[in-house]
Amino acid sequence: MSGNEIKLEDIVSLAIRRGFAFPTGRIYGGLAGFFDYGPLGAEMRREVINDWWSFFVRRREDVVGIHGCIITHPRVWEASGHVESFFDFLVVCQKCGAEFRADHLLEDAGIEVQELTAEALEKAMRERGVKCPKCGGELSKPVPFNLMFVTQVGPKETRASRAYLRPETAQLIFVDFKDVVTSARLKLPFGIAQVGRAFRNEISPRNFTFRAREFEMMEIEYFVNPAKLDDCPYWDNVADLKVNMLSAEMQEEGSERYREMSLAEACETGVIRNRWHAYWIGESLRWLWSIGLRRERLRVREHLKTELAHYAIQTFDVEYFFPFMGWKEIEGIANRGDYDLRRHMEFSGKDLAIVDDGEKVVPHVIEPSFGVDRVILALLTDAYRRVEDRIVLSLNPKVAPIKVAVFPLVTKEPFTSKAREVYNMLKEEFAAFYDEKGSIGRRYARVDEAGVPLAVTIDGTTLEDNTVTIRFRDTRKQIRAPISELKDKIKEIMNNWGA
Ligand code: GAP
Repeated sequence: MSGNEIKLEDIVSLAIRRGFAFPTGRIYGGLAGFFDYGPLGAEMRREVINDWWSFFVRRREDVVGIHGCIITHPRVWEASGHVESFFDFLVVCQKCGAEFRADHLLEDAGIEVQELTAEALEKAMRERGVKCPKCGGELSKPVPFNLMFVTQVGPKETRASRAYLRPETAQLIFVDFKDVVTSARLKLPFGIAQVGRAFRNEISPRNFTFRAREFEMMEIEYFVNPAKLDDCPYWDNVADLKVNMLSAEMQEEGSERYREMSLAEACETGVIRNRWHAYWIGESLRWLWSIGLRRERLRVREHLKTELAHYAIQTFDVEYFFPFMGWKEIEGIANRGDYDLRRHMEFSGKDLAIVDDGEKVVPHVIEPSFGVDRVILALLTDAYRRVEDRIVLSLNPKVAPIKVAVFPLVTKEPFTSKAREVYNMLKEEFAAFYDEKGSIGRRYARVDEAGVPLAVTIDGTTLEDNTVTIRFRDTRKQIRAPISELKDKIKEIMNNWGA
């Protein structure tokens, strides 16, 4: 089966069957846009988040992390512009009452709109005679619908008790900026990172976990002196990296195809306006490649002017090619300038400028912002293979929820005791799984589908010489190794995965 034949239903079915993810409250029919992660999914999320944190925070001297509140002071969202500008356009069917996101409705009908304004959307709908896809009824005019979930703090329901569930984690970084800089004694350039839940009351959540109403973000706000946006000390690490670039200009000229170019070329030709922005595009791709996503399924697409968020000067999305829905954003990398810090200075009356080279500056921000759920959906899609009549999930060991399975070849003593002994030894170091039920072939098939990279089997020879077989999920190749060297051997295999 070629990759192009994978359907979203295949991924959903696997995710539910194997306990990666499922709609929340399924016994009550589910709640649109909300998902729970099962045993494999919960482990996989940890692996993805921990690897991200290690790559972008722990292993760097210039990035620190915070853990902010989901509900913060409501003025934060006025200052950030979300109360005023964070909306999509809603249309309602006059006959059946179904609600749609106007731009999605047009997109589904194959109609392109360049501008996301009420007037442009209404014009396109009128000219093309777009009707309700459910009942054919007339549709209302597009009206802006704010995506923030509103809640109430305390027992009294008043204007003053109104608060919001955060629609992005970024704002907590901006409002904590001064406290973090002072406590961690940060000097420009530096980054502040955060992983956490975000909430958006999406008009039409769809494509499983891709567009959810509750999801998780991994974000960095990287602060740079505005006079030094090209002064990146790590530039040499990324300058020659080749990326699949689809610039705004290429899109305006009608191209859908990306062009491979180095980040140096992208900066020199003005596609990316500054080196720090290019650097974070490079680092983002390096991480996405390192967790196993195929290079040819990742491209960097610049936002058209009409798509830019209210805070952005320039934005590039890292898009993954999902065979069932095309190129879709899994990460946004925005140049937010000094928009946020300046707005918070204005709204709070506090000075958020800091000293660099003896001068007070309001830093500019480059923001790599990943969605955990979208990265996981891309990983599952990328790894999904049908081999003969079975499904093999070829996840990179870094993100695989279980690293190694342990089986006795036959379910009887002394094989089972020996296998448990090996399992007990391995689970101290790796996420391991023991199974003695069913034929060995069925057991291999079950762990192949769960994405387990290696299976260790205890057989007759083990009882004679204390060696076991290690089976590789993707090739089904087997090698023998002594139990005394097993931990090191597994580590070596996993460290050299794909090399
Ligand atoms: N602070 C920047 C920001 O919020 P964004 O492009 O709106 O930027 C960043 O979101 C990332 O969050 C996206 O690239 C995507 O991976 C994830 N994301 C956004 N909306 C989502 C949704 N409704 N469901 C799942 N993930 C979402």
